[in-house]
Amino acid sequence: MAETIYRKDYQAPSHWVDTVRLEFDLDPESTSVTSTLSVRPNLDLDTPQFDWVLNGESLTLVSVALNGTPLPETAYTLTDETLTLHNIVEPCEVTIVNRFSPQANTALQGIYVSGENLMSQCESQGFRRITYYPDRPDVLARFKVVIRAEKRRYPVLLSNGNPSDARDLDDGRHEVVWTDPFPKPSYLFALVAGNLVCQRELFELKDGRNATLEVWVEPRDLDKTAHTMESLKKSIRWDEERFGLELDLDGFRIVATQDFNFGAMENKGLNIFNARYALANPKVATDQDYANIESVVGHEYFHNWTGNRITLRDWFQLTLKEGLTVFRDQEFSSDMLGEESARAVERIKNVIALRQSQFREDASPMAHPIRPESYQKIDNFYTATVYEKGAEVIRLLQTLLGWETFRKGFDDYIQTNDGNAVTCEAFLEAMERASGRDLKQFKRWYSQAGTPRVTVMTDFDPKTGNYTLQVSQSTPATPGQSVKKPFLIPFPVSFMSETGDPLPVRLVGETTTSTDKRLFELTEERQTFVFTGFDHEPVLSLNHGFAAPIQLEIALNDTEGGMTAEQKTDKHRALQARFERDAFVRWDALNQLMLQSLRELIIHDIPGHHAEPISRTLMDAFDGVINDATISPAYKALLMTLPSETLIGDSLTLIDPQAVAHARQRVRTELGSRYSTSLNELVEANLTRGDYTPDAESAGRRSLVRVGLDYLMAATDKHGQLLACELAENATNLTDRLTGLTMVNQTRLQRKNDLLLKSLREWMSEPLLLNKWLAIIAGGPSMVGEDPVVDRVRELVNCAFVSLKNPNNVYALVLTFFMNNPAEFHRLDGQGYALWLELLEKTDKLNPHVAARIARTLENWRRYTPALADQMYMVLNDVLTRRDEFSPGVIEIVDKALNNPL
Ligand code: PHE
Ligand code: ZN
Repeated sequence: MAETIYRKDYQAPSHWVDTVRLEFDLDPESTSVTSTLSVRPNLDLDTPQFDWVLNGESLTLVSVALNGTPLPETAYTLTDETLTLHNIVEPCEVTIVNRFSPQANTALQGIYVSGENLMSQCESQGFRRITYYPDRPDVLARFKVVIRAEKRRYPVLLSNGNPSDARDLDDGRHEVVWTDPFPKPSYLFALVAGNLVCQRELFELKDGRNATLEVWVEPRDLDKTAHTMESLKKSIRWDEERFGLELDLDGFRIVATQDFNFGAMENKGLNIFNARYALANPKVATDQDYANIESVVGHEYFHNWTGNRITLRDWFQLTLKEGLTVFRDQEFSSDMLGEESARAVERIKNVIALRQSQFREDASPMAHPIRPESYQKIDNFYTATVYEKGAEVIRLLQTLLGWETFRKGFDDYIQTNDGNAVTCEAFLEAMERASGRDLKQFKRWYSQAGTPRVTVMTDFDPKTGNYTLQVSQSTPATPGQSVKKPFLIPFPVSFMSETGDPLPVRLVGETTTSTDKRLFELTEERQTFVFTGFDHEPVLSLNHGFAAPIQLEIALNDTEGGMTAEQKTDKHRALQARFERDAFVRWDALNQLMLQSLRELIIHDIPGHHAEPISRTLMDAFDGVINDATISPAYKALLMTLPSETLIGDSLTLIDPQAVAHARQRVRTELGSRYSTSLNELVEANLTRGDYTPDAESAGRRSLVRVGLDYLMAATDKHGQLLACELAENATNLTDRLTGLTMVNQTRLQRKNDLLLKSLREWMSEPLLLNKWLAIIAGGPSMVGEDPVVDRVRELVNCAFVSLKNPNNVYALVLTFFMNNPAEFHRLDGQGYALWLELLEKTDKLNPHVAARIARTLENWRRYTPALADQMYMVLNDVLTRRDEFSPGVIEIVDKALNNPL
């Protein structure tokens, strides 16, 4: 049983390491490491500790020496996970020699083989798979790294910092030395060896220095580095201008690998990237890929200050670097878009992602605050909560304090903490100093899990013209937290008339005439706001730009002209869908109308009872959007998109994935056939003609084409189908080709198999493309008369060109199926769950991190109809009863899924 680690148990390290000299003799079968550490006991501890415990996993210890003298075995204790040196009472030099096998390392943590190359991944606890070391983020040391390897096989040898020496050795080997001038924790160590080539540029920094920027790839990928290099230069410039932060090294390197558990890693001066976030050209990358690369390159680069120069005291503080850095990369991406409406589109996409992953997590047995209080495997806490909600919490500060004060606090944070390993308090304290505000209540965002529910009851009094909001907030119980205190929530409010005219936001007793939205703050469980000055009942808008990560419920009073509250809510949403000035609120209104229609359809979907699939109100709103030429294509695409099956499911008391898919399909079909003419026109008008560029404007047009075609497919529109085939076969850009294939895959056209096979043949030898193809199959529907998707996924898993050792293959095929195809995964016959168990077992033996991600796809089992929940319980329980056969990370998830009821 894995032990639980608690935040409250933090203890400062018993010893400090000032310098590290690592000598590597690289060999894929058996690499040897000689590590020389200058060590001193931490005498600031209340009771200094002289046993020095080093972490080490899957290592073979060769020797230990103290100040040059070999230690007898009695001077240390070795276990599977630690090496304890006894009696380290004064500063000394420890030399450890050990070995490990990169080849045998399929977990992809530590140093492993990727293709013909060697790569490292140390966050969070991978360094201990390289050598014995105090593998914790609060031990900061200066690293010097000597790498020796066969020159023909590994001509390029990279590590952190600056290259300081290189020479050839006899016997065909060579040696390269790297020195990193900045003290760092072990999780930021990196090493790369291989036959790599690079795109290199000199880039002038703000202070006039020239930095060498390099993007390292396999030779076959040298035509895919340009966008990554551009993104890196933009990131450096942006951090200088927006946050006043400069690159602190002479060089900055990015390396791409096809084998990587996460997206990318911010190792000091040597970022390692999953190939999907580092390689692009028009043949292998979609609009989304281009955008993702810019944002991930930014993210990792921004970590150089928020994460590396200022690092974490312990892993519970993960959001200190991740939440803040996601916030920074989001700002970067939207600054690169420039235009206000494009920024709004970006914001809405982030909100959709947050609701779909983080809100879901908040409602699960894995729910945790952005700073968790305990964990078994820290690997399981690289979550949407720590990252995306963490970024929202930083955004809340920016909203509450305003940009200028926020920036002042940020600068203070950097200056005060540079070079240190700190806690989340350091950030909040800097914000307190800058603003003069007490952030005690705000801090609850760091300790309370769950999505706050804000309920607003309205009342309009025509006699006084007063409009009253009774606002209450509450946060549902989460595992280990039954009672919650109120949060500090920024609360923007605005009003408009039924003809779309903005109205003043004026509290009783005030004299303002401003019609701009106004920012209030919620601090209590219940609060009342009385606005005044209305001739008629106004239309109320709240939470502009999704100011706070809350679930908002507005209950309108029902005293108007015999309308029910529901009818009035519908009417107001329709008015907002038409007139609202805040792009998020407008989109959300239409989205809620869609969700409402879908929910009604599901709830009343009793056999024999044919409910009208969509209300008149929704139809009118949809109609208004399709034909509104003033709406940008990207925004229109978002406005027209139905909520995903996952989001619809999560809004129900009990999830019945087939009913959800069925309802969504009916609404799509209905809208698709009713508006087929307009949709065809829209698609035609926005088709890409001429050269491809991934800029936001033309990407927006392509996303609109996709949304339009998606409706036309549901309506089996002949013209739409023809166009889909045409795109699948002949589109000159990858985005449109994938749109075409995705659409064709949901038809029963004769040419379907030919088109799918043709693209598979063409794409098989390019991993980036193969993964896209796999995701189309895994995410598609089962068509009558064809094999169900679950069978095709199983077949593909066993194909020679798919490997369970490769995380990207698993994510594209397996996780797409388990996460994004609920109706096909949650089959009543249990085939999906059988596949889940089979793949969990297989991947766990190879890569426990990947397996834990698979495990998480059933954690919400209690939310489903009993027929499904019972079956999920059975497979989960099967895992738990055989707990010794699974990795601790998987067991943590399954155990919490079964035993952490909400
Ligand atoms: N720190 C990385 C990031 O957010 C994510 C990561 C975590 C990568 C663990 C690898 C391993 O940019
Ligand atoms: Zn990060």
